[in-house]
Amino acid sequence: MPELEAVLANIESNLDAAYERLFALLRIRSISTDPAYAQECRACADWHVKDLREIGFEAEARETQGHPIVVGHDRSSTGRSVLFYGHYDVQPVDPLGLWDHDPFEPFIETRPDGSRAIRARGASDDKGQVMTFIEACRAWKAVTGKLPVATTILLEGEEESGGASLPGFLETHADELRADIGLICDTNMWDAKTPAIQTMLRGLCGEEITIHAADRDLHSGFYGSAAANPNRILARILSDLHDADGRVTIPGFYDGVPELPDALRAQWDTLNFDAAAFLGAVGLSVPAGERGRSVLEMVWSRPTCEINGMGGGYQGAGFKTVIPSVASAKVSFRLVFDQDPHAIRKAFREFARKRVPSDCKVEFAEHGAGRAIRFPIEADAFAKTRDALSAEWGRPAVFIGGGGSIPVTAELKQKLGMDVVLAGFALDDDRIHSPNEKYELESFRRGVRSWARVLQELGQH
Ligand code: BES
Repeated sequence: MPELEAVLANIESNLDAAYERLFALLRIRSISTDPAYAQECRACADWHVKDLREIGFEAEARETQGHPIVVGHDRSSTGRSVLFYGHYDVQPVDPLGLWDHDPFEPFIETRPDGSRAIRARGASDDKGQVMTFIEACRAWKAVTGKLPVATTILLEGEEESGGASLPGFLETHADELRADIGLICDTNMWDAKTPAIQTMLRGLCGEEITIHAADRDLHSGFYGSAAANPNRILARILSDLHDADGRVTIPGFYDGVPELPDALRAQWDTLNFDAAAFLGAVGLSVPAGERGRSVLEMVWSRPTCEINGMGGGYQGAGFKTVIPSVASAKVSFRLVFDQDPHAIRKAFREFARKRVPSDCKVEFAEHGAGRAIRFPIEADAFAKTRDALSAEWGRPAVFIGGGGSIPVTAELKQKLGMDVVLAGFALDDDRIHSPNEKYELESFRRGVRSWARVLQELGQH
């Protein structure tokens, strides 16, 4: 197939320019959760619009209540249609002191073994991954003047901060966005050599809880033990969330959580997951989840409750004998199978309210909700993608589960009736959401080549 060979050759000869484009994107500080960076989020959307127009897409940044959504169409092909989704926003960078470099000044690091990685916030999650798809489109257009499939690109700017605007946008633009299949590049490979298609994603329910006690901070000697301490109330709520076996104690939490189907368990067994290495890579060794469950189950098929942040009282240098008036925590639940995020939010709030004394007040704020999702792997687009990935990486691509969440995936299924192929080239050690995020140069190069092949496969009926 000489066309594909020419496209792959075009990718190879334009890699340096592709890195330059990715670096320009990585320099934009598109931290969606922090209003201080709203202009940078807009700049990022505008950057994508300009770039997509340069390769012949009709692209626009569409206004929302929050950050703009980028939509681009390429109608050069009339065959099968695909909707590629990615996000241009990134996670906050703090604690900044733990970075070895400026998070927004990307560079290529060469390691002693000669391997190379792009270092920057968003290099892996998700700017580098998004650009693998866009660069593949660029190469197809450069070589053949068109794409093998009718392609729509949808780029969100709020994925990392709850994604409030997207569900409504999908509803109001359903006819414009609906395609035969969805493609997302925001997941991991199985390992550095083995490509993977992720067939399930966990859902998410985010909650912020604030306990208000006295109407001012108090001297802990004058008032200690007489006045309610919100830190103590909060700590009690948070510690009651799990029992001694690591199970979540909120009533009804496990409703809709079946045991892993035998076929899936058998398939996962063939992956030979190394739990000790997984924990060892982050300096740990003792699985902290439900007793009696494997680590792979814990992260792929069991729900979680995690405390993502907590604060209250004096946390500056030295010491201060104070009873604070306020304490708060951010709590998230990863959901599996048929768990209902709204039911869980309600149950959590009831659980917390019961533990708040009558003279104190509790407030809740919502931070996103999305259901878990699983895709049938028998569909044609999954087989074609697997073949394309296997051809590029020289070994069979595997079907895997996964612990993270990409809320749009369930929305695409519910609102547009679309299945989504999740194929990504990130690695477990990419430090996404952490200081010193990186994306392997090989992930990028072979990722671009992989999408070039996937587009070709999908274009064949
Ligand atoms: N790319 C990640 C999720 C991911 C990572 C899925 C690795 C599979 C493998 C995504 O960008 C992400 O971080 N999502 C957030 C969503 C949340 C803020 C609503 C997450 O999972 O925490």
